[in-house]
Amino acid sequence: MIGKLNHVAIVVPDLAAAAAVYRDSLGADVSAPEDLPEHGVTTVFVNLPNTKIELLHPLGADSPIQKFLAAHPSGGMHHVCYEVDDIIAARDHLKARGARVLGNGEPRTGAHGKPVLFLHPKDFCGTLVELEQV
Ligand code: CO
Repeated sequence: MIGKLNHVAIVVPDLAAAAAVYRDSLGADVSAPEDLPEHGVTTVFVNLPNTKIELLHPLGADSPIQKFLAAHPSGGMHHVCYEVDDIIAARDHLKARGARVLGNGEPRTGAHGKPVLFLHPKDFCGTLVELEQV
C-alpha cells in the first residue's frame, strides 16, 4: 500500500545551524527557511536524490512540535512520511486493522499542499507516521 518515502522530519532547536550542518558538512541541497503559520512550524527542506529531509522548528506559542523539542532539546527524528495513492482507502484499511489515526481522522492539507494523515506511533513500531496522498 505505501509507496515512496516522501520525507523524514527532524525537529531542531536552531534551524540555521541545522541547515548549515546539512549544507556545509553533508554537502546537501538545502532550501531557504519557510514559515508555515497554519502548521506552527518553520521548515527547511534538504533535497536528496531519493527523498527529502524536513528540518522543523516551532513557530508560535501553540506549535505542535513545541513539546517534542522540550523533551528532545538537542533535536530528534519526529516522523517519517510515506506516499499513498488514496489516503481515504489507506486510512480505512489501517483503521480496520486497529490502527489509530491522530486528530479527527480526516485528512488535512499538509506542508506540501497535499492531503495528509498522522498515525499513532504506538501502532507503528514507536514511530510517528505521516501518510501523504500524491
Ligand atoms: Co511531514
